[in-house]
Amino acid sequence: MKKIVTLLLKVVAVLLAVVGLVLLFVNFRGVPSYEVNIPENIKNVKVEVTPQRVARGEKIALVMCNACHANQDNRLVGKHIDDLPAEFGKAYSLNITQDAEDGIGSWTDGEIMYFLKTGIKRNGQYAPIMPKFPRMADEDLKSIIAYLHSDRFPVQATKGEGHEQEPSLLLKVLTNTVMKPIEPITKPILVPDSTDKVAFGKYIANDLIACYACHSGDLAKADPLHPEKSFGFYGGGIKMPDLEGKIVPTANLTFDEETGIAKKYNEEQFVHAVRFCKKPDGGILRYPMQPHITLTDYEVKAIFAYLKTVPKIKNNVNAL
Ligand code: HEC
Ligand code: HEC
Repeated sequence: MKKIVTLLLKVVAVLLAVVGLVLLFVNFRGVPSYEVNIPENIKNVKVEVTPQRVARGEKIALVMCNACHANQDNRLVGKHIDDLPAEFGKAYSLNITQDAEDGIGSWTDGEIMYFLKTGIKRNGQYAPIMPKFPRMADEDLKSIIAYLHSDRFPVQATKGEGHEQEPSLLLKVLTNTVMKPIEPITKPILVPDSTDKVAFGKYIANDLIACYACHSGDLAKADPLHPEKSFGFYGGGIKMPDLEGKIVPTANLTFDEETGIAKKYNEEQFVHAVRFCKKPDGGILRYPMQPHITLTDYEVKAIFAYLKTVPKIKNNVNAL
């Protein structure tokens, strides 16, 4: 008997040593880098900067980039991401102004597009915290790039070296195992015709703004390449910290009669909620829900039409 116990203890000791060594290796290796292998049709992208594209790109960036990249002066020089859950460590967005050394002034259009689709930078570094936009239409990605190259104030060349990332051991383990860059879609992606309201709303909700990422069941089980396969798709319930660290569950946006938005919001009230964070009872939707002022009424109505078609999920998020 004693022998077996000693043997088991030895086995446990060896296993612990192996786990320790692996963790030590992962801690030393950090977030892995990848070979940069940009498909030709992305690599050769050249974006013509037109006023229409700059306006569209600015509108998208206001919702999708500025919250993380803009400093107090509204220049996109990067900053500490202060609402990142502590278990992932510390992340700092970087300088994406046109400065050639500190910003992205020397990146080609293809390198920017590849990074936005996959999360792999031109030097091979993988960016785990920065969101990826794998299903965004080519024209919308080009509009973002045109905006980054424009003379608009936030992107004008500005000095300011970025801060080193400080990933936690957990984030290093995740990026060495399950969190991987996204395979780029190389076939053309078009914005659906706006007269097809459901398809148009689906594109805005899933592929442009990624409402589902917050409004599904688990941040780690969101699937950017196949949004509908995300766990608890639009059923909500992710516990997110507000700016004081208090927990706010994300809402169930399916049309479930009891726990979803079917009876809570009509189309007009939904537009007010999404554009201005105003609730039908006069209250305000709490952070991290943000006002989406640059979306038009029609775009938000299209999202509403699309959500009606999403499978209902019974999930009372306030009871969690
Ligand atoms: C949730 C916060 C967040 C949002 C939203 C965000 N970023 Fe970032 N971004 C980051 C972080 C963090 C990094 C640093 C990544 C790293 O080095 O690991 C980064 C890095 C970058 C880089 C690489 C810069 C360099 O020098 O390596 C580019 C380019 C970029 N972001 C562009 C954008 C654009 C364009 C948008 C909007 C479409 C956007 N980001 C939205 C957080 C964000
Ligand atoms: C960063 C995460 C995040 C994103 C992205 C996000 N939301 Fe929200 N949303 C929340 C949170 C958290 C709440 C709950 C706020 C509260 O209870 O005060 C919420 C609440 C709502 C509500 C109110 C529902 C109710 O039951 O009262 C609506 C409607 C809504 N969001 C729609 C959207 C739409 C449409 C999008 C995309 C255009 C979107 N949200 C993107 C986090 C997010």
